[in-house]
Amino acid sequence: METNESEARQSALVTGASRGIGKAVAEALAQGGFNVCLNYATESSREAAEGLSESLAGRYGVKAFAWRADIAQAGEVLALFNAAEEAFGSIEVLVNNAGITRDGLILRMGEEAFDEVIAVNLKGTFNCCKAAACHMARRRYGRIISVGSIVGVCGNAGQANYAASKAGVVGLSKSLAKELAPRNITVNVIAPGFIETDMTNALDERQRFAIMGRIALGHPGTPKDVASLACFLAGKGAGYITGQVIGVDGGMAL
Ligand SMILES: NC(=O)c1ccc[n+]([C@@H]2O[C@H](COP(=O)([O-])OP(=O)(O)OC[C@H]3O[C@@H](n4cnc5c(N)ncnc54)[C@H](OP(=O)(O)O)[C@@H]3O)[C@@H](O)[C@H]2O)c1
Repeated sequence: METNESEARQSALVTGASRGIGKAVAEALAQGGFNVCLNYATESSREAAEGLSESLAGRYGVKAFAWRADIAQAGEVLALFNAAEEAFGSIEVLVNNAGITRDGLILRMGEEAFDEVIAVNLKGTFNCCKAAACHMARRRYGRIISVGSIVGVCGNAGQANYAASKAGVVGLSKSLAKELAPRNITVNVIAPGFIETDMTNALDERQRFAIMGRIALGHPGTPKDVASLACFLAGKGAGYITGQVIGVDGGMAL
């Protein structure tokens, strides 16, 4: 894994880092020598997020802290970024990982289920990109990595709201890749397939069986599979990669 320990230590902000993919990304970045700010949303995740930040600081000798903020709220996102800049001095890497699902077929999908998913997954990503761009543009360096989904590329019955939000993240990221390139800021999307987390644990056996049949490699991915790509994109070696949507899906989208 690439490390930035020999140079000035860089800092990363990971949204939705209390569990699942975000937790693995925060862990991998800390292991790679990044300071990390771990965002989470709910009071019930405070202990997990604070425990993880203490453990990362202890094991890897980086600075780490946890901060509660609902990314759908622009004011809370501003406070989150200000806290990270105050703690670290700068933010070189943003990983937009926080996301939710409210699944249902369109005929049964209420307006709230649509709005809520768009508010967190798309507007939340916009809020964080905007705050990060402001910090990064001043220093003429940055890496923005958003966790989309193959569902945003291929669509999925029962996930019209989620697929629309993740497709929106692709459009947002490609636009920002063009807009922020002159400031030396890269913007990419990771598109996971089926990864074992709380989000997918909510699926029943029939749904899991159907999904498994579509994965070329024949097994689900792990949060670490996504984290290793996030780490690569956050590192110096990925400096010429921008505006890309990269699958981590075991061949599910083939
Ligand atoms: N798992 C998969 O198979 C899969 C596949 C494709 C894409 N993805 C994407 O990968 C990302 C992570 O998924 P996951 O499976 O790790 O999910 P997860 O286990 O359900 O964890 C979701 C994380 O997002 C946080 N979060 C939710 N709403 C938030 C908000 N409004 N503001 C800030 N944080 C919020 C949660 O914080 P709390 O703990 O405080 O609730 C939690 O840390 C999501 O964007 C998801 O769409 C996942």
